[in-house]
Amino acid sequence: MAVGVFDSGLGGLTVLDAVSKRLPDVPFVYLGDNKHAPYGVRDADDVYTLTCAATERLWDAGCDLVILACNTASAAALRRMQESWVPRDKRVLGVFVPLIEALTERQWGDNSPPREVAVQHVALFATPATVRSRAFQRELSFRAIGVDVEAQACGGLVDAIEEGDMILAEALVRSHVDALKRKMPTPQAAILGCTHYPLMQEVFQDALGPEVAVYSQANLVAESLADYLGRHPDMIGTGDASMFLTTGDPKRVSDHATHFLRRRIQFDAA
Ligand code: DGL
Repeated sequence: MAVGVFDSGLGGLTVLDAVSKRLPDVPFVYLGDNKHAPYGVRDADDVYTLTCAATERLWDAGCDLVILACNTASAAALRRMQESWVPRDKRVLGVFVPLIEALTERQWGDNSPPREVAVQHVALFATPATVRSRAFQRELSFRAIGVDVEAQACGGLVDAIEEGDMILAEALVRSHVDALKRKMPTPQAAILGCTHYPLMQEVFQDALGPEVAVYSQANLVAESLADYLGRHPDMIGTGDASMFLTTGDPKRVSDHATHFLRRRIQFDAA
């Protein structure tokens, strides 16, 4: 029994860490498409094709349920995959909905009509492809009315984090927050809509100020997965071992991942 966790690269390890802590008995197969990362600068068709290929690889590894721990894939490909591609006996879930349910104070699967919620001014920080897709605004509009969303595409930030250049990453966070604040001076909540950004959460919080509630996904996704598996235990697939797979160079990716998560991680070729 295993559940697949997919990301374009290493950022999804923040989600993997949270889901494995929350569900210690479930084996997880992680797949990073490092060969084709970053996804954030690709067009939607490209992200769709790559995400389908990676999802099939995880199905082959015995994972009937695949979590797209990549916001760019969740935003640019998930709806199309669910509508026309995923077979009946498989599931692919994304990372946006748990976050939006938390923001709009909804229980999982509450499909009642959109209503007014406590927050009215929300800042979204994400990759250029996620911002372009407007998937966040679309999913939010199914659940809430009267929420003003200002999105800031954080060009360069994923690359700086992947390279471990935290000085550049901090400078980029501060300049992207400044740019956002010029468009929306007093956001009430900020969404870190990219798997890499939790590593910079303190800098985001500092730049935004203490009055802004900063939402990041890993723990919200873990709670929602635990809830989902409680209701659909049959969706834990046949795979029985945790593993880390990459489409990139396993040694290079293992070294980067170890640096990224500050613990030893061994990737194998996908
Ligand atoms: N993992 C992607 C996301 O969450 C960011 C990295 C990329 O651009 O591939 O949006």
